[in-house]
Amino acid sequence: MNLELKGKVAIVGGGSQGIGLGIARTLAGEGAQVVMTARREEDLKRAAHEIRELTGNTVTWIAADCRKAEDCERVATIARAEFGGVDILVNNDGAPPVGPVLSFDDEAWHCAVEQNLMYPVRMVRHTAESMKQRGGGSILNITAISAIQPIRDLGLSVATWGGVIGYAKTLSMELAEFGINVNTICPGYIETSRLRKVFAAGDEPDEAVRARLLKDVPLGRVGSVDDIANLVALLVSPRGAYITGTAIQVDGGLLRGVR
Ligand SMILES: NC(=O)c1ccc[n+]([C@@H]2O[C@H](COP(=O)([O-])OP(=O)(O)OC[C@H]3O[C@@H](n4cnc5c(N)ncnc54)[C@H](OP(=O)(O)O)[C@@H]3O)[C@@H](O)[C@H]2O)c1
Repeated sequence: MNLELKGKVAIVGGGSQGIGLGIARTLAGEGAQVVMTARREEDLKRAAHEIRELTGNTVTWIAADCRKAEDCERVATIARAEFGGVDILVNNDGAPPVGPVLSFDDEAWHCAVEQNLMYPVRMVRHTAESMKQRGGGSILNITAISAIQPIRDLGLSVATWGGVIGYAKTLSMELAEFGINVNTICPGYIETSRLRKVFAAGDEPDEAVRARLLKDVPLGRVGSVDDIANLVALLVSPRGAYITGTAIQVDGGLLRGVR
């Protein structure tokens, strides 16, 4: 299937590694012009080089901290100036600290809101007008399965990503008339350095943690970044244009609910 992504301009957050890198690589492989962001410049450069080697396409990178309002505006401004507009926005980054909800003070909650909720809000604010002018576009948020099926100690993320899902649903209704779809992907366990750190965090050996957690995954394996990136590519492409306002889990069957 031709996803018709050739020449589309896509901003991909957290593109230097993990899920974001997988998404940037897949979109570039489909011919999109990718602008990727993260804080550490060296990692971004390495990732951009990897994508260029693999796809033959040049990707642009901008070092930026998604928790900062001025960085969000700068990324969108550069993308619009360099490429004449934005067609696709993928909001993806790291995550707030882990711990019991009662252990976090106002400052921690404020940071979590900036990182998980205000980041997509600001990026949309600075790119939606361009999508409207170009006759359509696509907005995609990466959250986590815990936003639908909460997990102990992930309260900062659960609460703020719950807000993202509500925000995205509202936005999908308000932007539909402009040909812009808005969706959220909720990953389960995905093989990245972040997940490996989670496996290594406690006293239990990593492999034992992995085996224990996988007992709850019907497909019996950890997902790959391509499992996420392939769905992203479909949802942000003209082929996925009729899909909007959804929060889709990509989790090997981990979610137990039947919505
Ligand atoms: N892996 C999983 O199993 C899994 C499951 C469910 C949900 N998720 C969620 O999916 C997202 C991506 O996960 P991942 O496993 O790919 O994580 P990762 O490997 O740690 O990658 C995170 C990316 O985001 C960038 N980033 C982090 N904080 C940032 C900030 N403040 N501003 C800009 N960029 C920032 C990182 O680069 P810099 O550090 O250089 O900024 C990096 O490029 C996270 O929100 C995670 O919670 C992951």
